[in-house]
Amino acid sequence: MASKVFVTHQLPGERIRELAQQCEMNVWMGPGLLPPAGLRTELAGCQGLVCLLTDRIDSSVLDAAPDLQFVSSMSVGVDHIDVAALTERGIAIGHTPGVLVETTADTAFALLLAAGRRIAEADRFVRRGEWGPDNTWAPEFFTGVDVGGATLGIIGLGEIGQAVARRAAGFGMEVLAWNRSPRQVSGIEMLGLDELLERSDFVSIHVALTPQTRDLLNADNIALMKPGAVVVNTARGGIVNEQALADALIDGRLLAAGVDVFEREPVPADNPLLGLPNVVVTPHIGSATLRTRARMADIAVANALAALRGEAMPCCVNPAVYG
Ligand code: GLV
Repeated sequence: MASKVFVTHQLPGERIRELAQQCEMNVWMGPGLLPPAGLRTELAGCQGLVCLLTDRIDSSVLDAAPDLQFVSSMSVGVDHIDVAALTERGIAIGHTPGVLVETTADTAFALLLAAGRRIAEADRFVRRGEWGPDNTWAPEFFTGVDVGGATLGIIGLGEIGQAVARRAAGFGMEVLAWNRSPRQVSGIEMLGLDELLERSDFVSIHVALTPQTRDLLNADNIALMKPGAVVVNTARGGIVNEQALADALIDGRLLAAGVDVFEREPVPADNPLLGLPNVVVTPHIGSATLRTRARMADIAVANALAALRGEAMPCCVNPAVYG
């Protein structure tokens, strides 16, 4: 009997048809995202799940899916999955590293430039019709801060952090970095987190969200940052404490922020960052290019196909399940 695999969204890419040929595949066709109760119902009798980062895979889902053997997520981050609970049950978890590195670094750099040079604020100003004879070019009109020649602090020097560092080098920036485990990359000065915050004009976050990185940037260490610094987060909400960041932006200690990821997504209207003119916000689009999303989907399918064949997934988060 063919294995049953549930896919929580229609996927781009070339390989999803292959998956349909190799199993009994059901796909949630929407509209919108599949609600958690629907996921539990759909998973009954399934051996495999292909999901997105918007699907929370926890013990309640596992209890509803006793036959589940693998979960393949079309994301590099797996903070939406209870990795320990799945590993304990021998369920392999796949993810999609590598292919989104350059795309996500582009997003981080776009936010860095937009926040430092007040691009979104200026765009709103023009569209609202506020650009008039009494409010126009003047020496201090819409002045921001220079990116070229500034100091960038990268928190998390994995593949995406290093790709951001390469972009920064092209802008003549001095690049500092902090990483949880020791790492040496040519042209980048490694520092403790506090010293990095004290010295950086721009700080960009590139660590995964784990219990250890939750609130990594908080009121205590934001207070150490250079006056007028800019924070960029394209990693995960929850790593930067949103209220502490908002407070520092409101009282002018920080100049601006570029934020693609939030503690709760979709972000609620009362999030403290949304009302601030000096925050550029985007809706979790770090890897959002057609090519990268197709590549991510193809890797998610490749992970699922390997699992269906009884082989190790090419990109497995918990290889311990293979003994
Ligand atoms: C995006 O945030 C991802 O984890 O792929």
